[in-house]
Amino acid sequence: MKNILITGASRGIGRAIAKEFAHGDCNLFVNSLHGGEKLTGCVDELTAIRRGNAGTGCIVPLKGDVGDPRFVREMFAEIKRHTNSFDGAPKTAAEAPARIDILINNAGISYVGLLQDMTDEKWDRIVATNLSSVHYCCREAIPGMLAAGDGRIINISSVWGSVGASCEVAYSATKGGVNAYTKALARELAPSHISVNAIACGCIDTDMNRIFSDDERNALCEEIPAGRFAEPEEVAKLVRAIAEQSDYLTGQIVTLDGGWM
Ligand SMILES: NC(=O)c1ccc[n+]([C@@H]2O[C@H](COP(=O)([O-])OP(=O)(O)OC[C@H]3O[C@@H](n4cnc5c(N)ncnc54)[C@H](OP(=O)(O)O)[C@@H]3O)[C@@H](O)[C@H]2O)c1
Repeated sequence: MKNILITGASRGIGRAIAKEFAHGDCNLFVNSLHGGEKLTGCVDELTAIRRGNAGTGCIVPLKGDVGDPRFVREMFAEIKRHTNSFDGAPKTAAEAPARIDILINNAGISYVGLLQDMTDEKWDRIVATNLSSVHYCCREAIPGMLAAGDGRIINISSVWGSVGASCEVAYSATKGGVNAYTKALARELAPSHISVNAIACGCIDTDMNRIFSDDERNALCEEIPAGRFAEPEEVAKLVRAIAEQSDYLTGQIVTLDGGWM
């Protein structure tokens, strides 16, 4: 049974991804920063999907900040308690790495404002959440993938990572970093049959875009050839499709933006 970790799964794109995988048999590990009712609600929804399909596998909520390397180590220690060791792994539980087969680095925040007004704290926060988190989670997941001789890493990025957005300089820089990290790590892990890809999202209808007024939203829709924001479920379907591809698909930044960029 596959073990799947989705960061930032309490709502938005992450939750849609978790729901997509809940339709099959797998152990699902769902993380969010604040936990609480949103993460509990996510687990309840995933459990209901499971019951409906008579599917199997555990659903484990993991509350904490993936921008904090100490939390990420603890999170993988917790994952290890729920997953079986695998053939060829060291015999003692202490030595065996946690086994995640599919890692989806989705947690992210935005910052909208002029760059010169951004405090050091806000800069550090967005870099930790959007970029360092990807590194911390990959670093913990790779040993188990190497031991298994297989693995899929999918990073949720943004079109701003390649194009750059005015008033979202820090956000664009973190997503550009995610894209470069994806391509470099893909080269490093391809000989080990572990694929690393990213999805560069355009406008997806989630809380992250609630900052826009109706007029701003309509103006954006006019710019997008598809004429609308995408639903989080459309990202989730693409994540699943990439996860099901052979490891030969690697190092790609797949754009999902309705023809926008
Ligand atoms: N929406 C878009 O148009 C769009 C476009 C391009 C790229 N993206 C990317 O897609 C990803 C998901 O975005 P979304 O629109 O679904 O956002 P969202 O609705 O705001 O949800 C963000 C999720 O990330 C979690 N999170 C935030 N900081 C975290 C941290 N430090 N540690 C753990 N979890 C954390 C949140 O947890 P809590 O609920 O506990 O706060 C929540 O589950 C992000 O990486 C974003 O940059 C989104």
